[in-house]
Amino acid sequence: MAAVDRFSLLYREIGRTCNFYIEALAIIGAWYTARKFISFALNSYSLLRLHFLPKVVGEIDLVKRYGKWAVVTGSTDGIGKAYAEELARRGVNIILISRSKEKLEAVSRSIAETYKVETDFIVADFSKGREVYLPIKEGLKDREIGILVNNVGLFYTYPDYFTNMTEDLMWDMMNINIASANMMVHIVLPGMLEKKKGAIVNVSSASCCQPTPMLTVYGASKAYLDYFSRALHYEYSSKGIFIQSLTPFVVATKMVPRGSVGSKRSFFFPSAEEYASQAVSTLGLSKRTTGYWKHAMQFTLGEHLPEWIWAWGAKFLARIVRKEALTSKLK
Ligand SMILES: NC(=O)c1ccc[n+]([C@@H]2O[C@H](COP(=O)([O-])OP(=O)(O)OC[C@H]3O[C@@H](n4cnc5c(N)ncnc54)[C@H](OP(=O)(O)O)[C@@H]3O)[C@@H](O)[C@H]2O)c1
Repeated sequence: MAAVDRFSLLYREIGRTCNFYIEALAIIGAWYTARKFISFALNSYSLLRLHFLPKVVGEIDLVKRYGKWAVVTGSTDGIGKAYAEELARRGVNIILISRSKEKLEAVSRSIAETYKVETDFIVADFSKGREVYLPIKEGLKDREIGILVNNVGLFYTYPDYFTNMTEDLMWDMMNINIASANMMVHIVLPGMLEKKKGAIVNVSSASCCQPTPMLTVYGASKAYLDYFSRALHYEYSSKGIFIQSLTPFVVATKMVPRGSVGSKRSFFFPSAEEYASQAVSTLGLSKRTTGYWKHAMQFTLGEHLPEWIWAWGAKFLARIVRKEALTSKLK
């Protein structure tokens, strides 16, 4: 009995001493919960505003806001082609840029006939470095470009270790993924600044959100584009130019290694058309977005994962895809 009395006294004494700490911990807990709640509420609001509100309120008039013509690089296939079609559906005239003249002619004709807009194209291979920009400059001269979509990009046949990359592939990736966006912006932006309006979309990738091993050069090139777009936005938004960093996760296009899960359309892997119709409606609304609501959820999760978990998961998956690709190569 005496022992219990002493214990309760001791307990009360400890409680009194700890009261301050308990209250401090309660305040920290409340602050943390409030922060998480506010950030969740803001994320949900931005998801609704970006991906669902435009459907209710109606589409932005892109021609009125930015101008009559858009240039889209890498636009005879995949996301670029679908993005060009979506812009044309909204009445924007299109200039396509890719390597193959036959594909450019076919896509250009099909867009003009389907959407009753004007179209044109420039044949250019961005892997060729500086020389490729002379014909582009010539082709875009006297054209009032309202929207530029830097979509062209090069991916690996399969993920691989850095030292296995050929020098050619490394230079192609730097020229196509990085230099092209810089040069295209340098060509088009002065015209936009004169009119005090315009929009530039740089197609980065969700791989920019954390370091992605075995896609090292690709991921780094996309992180470059993401940084480039965001910094450029701060530089020029006050001058009427809207610059967007578009960071999709997997979209089922030819770029995705054949036979891998993302090569076929499914719940998280939209077709290029599904993706582009949502991505275009975020233009003018978000300076950095995945462009697709299901990808936005994946991106938020990816960004919040500890870096080592993201890198471990990415390397684990990359090794599987690499092994499968090498095995099917041997067959
Ligand atoms: N698909 C995805 O899962 C995914 C995810 C995140 C980010 N992205 C990014 O999205 C962009 C588009 O990807 P995508 O999947 O739509 O690619 P895609 O289906 O392979 O289409 C590539 C387009 O670029 C053109 N092209 C390729 N190399 C070129 C070069 N050297 N010079 C000029 N044009 C060239 C191709 O046409 P020609 O062959 O006729 O030249 C084609 O029109 C890329 O920047 C990619 O990094 C894609």
